[in-house]
Amino acid sequence: MSLPGVLDSILIFFGVHRRSSAVNRFCGAAAGWVLAAGAALAQPAADVVYVPTPQPVVDRMLQMARVGEHDFLIDLGAGDGRILITAARRYGARGFGVDTDPERVREANAAAARAGVAEKVRFAERNLFEQDIRGASVVALYLMPEVNLRLRPKLLAEMRPGARVVSHDYHMGDWFPDATLTVESPGKVEGTPGVSEIYVWVIPAAVSGKWSFRAWTGGAERKGELALVQRYQHVGGALVEDGHKDPLREAKLSGDQITFALTAREGAKLVFSGRVAGNQMRGAMRDAQGRTVGSWLATRTTPVEPADPNARRAAN
Ligand SMILES: C[S@@+](CC[C@H](N)C(=O)[O-])C[C@H]1O[C@@H](n2cnc3c(N)ncnc32)[C@H](O)[C@@H]1O
Repeated sequence: MSLPGVLDSILIFFGVHRRSSAVNRFCGAAAGWVLAAGAALAQPAADVVYVPTPQPVVDRMLQMARVGEHDFLIDLGAGDGRILITAARRYGARGFGVDTDPERVREANAAAARAGVAEKVRFAERNLFEQDIRGASVVALYLMPEVNLRLRPKLLAEMRPGARVVSHDYHMGDWFPDATLTVESPGKVEGTPGVSEIYVWVIPAAVSGKWSFRAWTGGAERKGELALVQRYQHVGGALVEDGHKDPLREAKLSGDQITFALTAREGAKLVFSGRVAGNQMRGAMRDAQGRTVGSWLATRTTPVEPADPNARRAAN
């Protein structure tokens, strides 16, 4: 990852304009190093040719990704910048886009200026695989399936739980989307003419492994070991309590929000919902009628395993 890759996205994330600041001098120096390095290294070839997303599809992509004023978008292969410019104009979001084609980058920055959103979105010439995406709450893509697959480990490793990935037309192999929409795509001739697919994924928290589990209700405490198995956003497992194994039912993971149901000893269903925060998750316990009957806390007892099953396989 290049130094400007981190700096550019951090600066625009905090709404800092790079001109006329001490940071500017530092970035100028950093840019100098990169220019020097660039003279030695050939400009990376594009992995995908330029095809703009039709504007009505851009609009639906932003709706589906639930973009709002607090979002920071990164468009990997930004083309003429239309996705970020629309996000800034319509929702007040901020963003950063990269493209290997300098003409596209010039075009995108000029279009942002014309649209009056140059303080909110900026574009740079860079290989998308070198862009730091840790600050993105939304990543936008219109690439190709094989490029998406190469990008998948980076998305899962760098983006925070709950952040969204929205892709025009192309999927992510066995990481199935959380939402899909087929829309009319006026003027589109590539892929399926006149029709676009939109896919959205929510980055899942990493929950695979064992957790020490405690739940409290009406002054009584339950204790056990929660064993979770995860494949991307799909999760299952069991609670072992006094040697009795109770499989999790209706388990769901969306970003950092987890829900599962267990059967109480007397046979009643209890629903546990809560938030995953690093090595702990905690939340409310409800009965089958949705009434809160207690609270629960789970603490991780085994090392963190990535949410990406391929990264887990590679590590073993
Ligand atoms: C299909 S266009 C999508 C443009 C824009 N995101 C949109 O939806 O309108 C793909 C863009 O990715 C750029 N691109 C291809 N490979 C890239 C790479 N490795 N790094 C950065 N940009 C790349 C191309 O130059 C092109 O502008």
